[in-house]
Amino acid sequence: MNTADNAPSILRQKDPEVATWLQREDKRQATTLTLIASENHCSAAVREASASRITDKYAEGYPGKRYYGGCEVADGVEELARQRAMQLFAGAEDANVQPHSGTTANLSALLALAGAGGRIVGMMLKAGGHLSHGHDKSHTGMVFQAKQYGVDGTGRIDLDEVRKVCKEHQPKVLIAGGSSYARNIDYAAFAAIAKEVGALLLADIAHPAGLIAAGVIPSPVGIADVVTMTTHKTLRGPRGGMILAKKEIAKQINSSVFPGSQGGPLVQQIAGKAVAFGEALRPEFKAYQQQVKANAAFLAERLMAAGLDLVTGGTDNHIVLVDLRKTDVTGAQVEERALAAGLSVNKNAVPGDPRPPMVTSGLRLGTAAVTTRGFGRDQIATIADVIVGLVRGGDAERFRATIQGLCEAFPLPR
Ligand SMILES: Cc1ncc(COP(=O)(O)O)c(C=O)c1O
Repeated sequence: MNTADNAPSILRQKDPEVATWLQREDKRQATTLTLIASENHCSAAVREASASRITDKYAEGYPGKRYYGGCEVADGVEELARQRAMQLFAGAEDANVQPHSGTTANLSALLALAGAGGRIVGMMLKAGGHLSHGHDKSHTGMVFQAKQYGVDGTGRIDLDEVRKVCKEHQPKVLIAGGSSYARNIDYAAFAAIAKEVGALLLADIAHPAGLIAAGVIPSPVGIADVVTMTTHKTLRGPRGGMILAKKEIAKQINSSVFPGSQGGPLVQQIAGKAVAFGEALRPEFKAYQQQVKANAAFLAERLMAAGLDLVTGGTDNHIVLVDLRKTDVTGAQVEERALAAGLSVNKNAVPGDPRPPMVTSGLRLGTAAVTTRGFGRDQIATIADVIVGLVRGGDAERFRATIQGLCEAFPLPR
């Protein structure tokens, strides 16, 4: 078990209180299976880079043009991350690896392209979009004039509705992408709608970035004007954001990240991103992403065979969104039962959900983290059966030993 190996011994000596918390987290992860679609387990190499001494360095500005001295190493690390990012996402003309998060990446890109008070259109949170796509509780819904589109009765994006909302609202930026959308997105169709109304297209690939980098599902790079993402979900890097932009808007985007939205970049996270992109350029990463996708498809098949409904009736990526409306349980109840069994999942609204966000009628599952642990069909079959059992009211304690057995047989990567 790698909990003891990972225990930060200097930290334990200097600050046992924090060390104990972090050790508890090591143990929690080691003894739980993560099916939260936005989480993954990054490598020890990524964690080492992100915990390195470069965290001390201020490096406001960009490689070769910094507001501080002593940035030659920060320059080298950032340029390496940028070059690897552009190699990974074929066709990318510029990469900004500084955004602290996916939300900052979106806010920076939207401010650059729409301007404060500008009009934007994105997918509703309830339909599978993200808060930072113009939700009224997000600054993106306050700073911009935002209108949102939903999905059709089957849970799929309705391009006619997207066009209708765009024609009415005349946005400067149209956003394609979501947080709980299990299907491929027709980026060319989105680009055509954006063109029709004179908007720029922002593709937010925070969730499927790893699948896209590996060429396992279609890429918006080269189609969308700007592509934003997080680096810590399927891409399996450190926590953070990234923006890929067409050359003609790169300068605007870069100024919007710094000095517009952030001060000094988190150079240690940029080092971690460089390591993760290096890992993603290796052939094993493609095989990993193929398995992520195959595991999600099999999980979907198995849950449906057991009688559960899925939004859109399946998946094209790593996400499976279970619609619990025909059962007698809520998303919150299943989340709680799953945790008791050792499965980390999250309740999630389904399109048209009558229940509030803290309850919901859905369960969002993702296969990125368990595939990192080495899961294949047999293990996916087991967890599908456990989930069905939990939904049908089975005693969580009954499944605990099964999940523990899987955790021990498939330890966290080192
Ligand atoms: C589509 C999408 N965009 C942006 C984000 C925001 O990322 P962060 O949590 O790093 O701000 C997320 C996070 O879940 C996301 O799913």
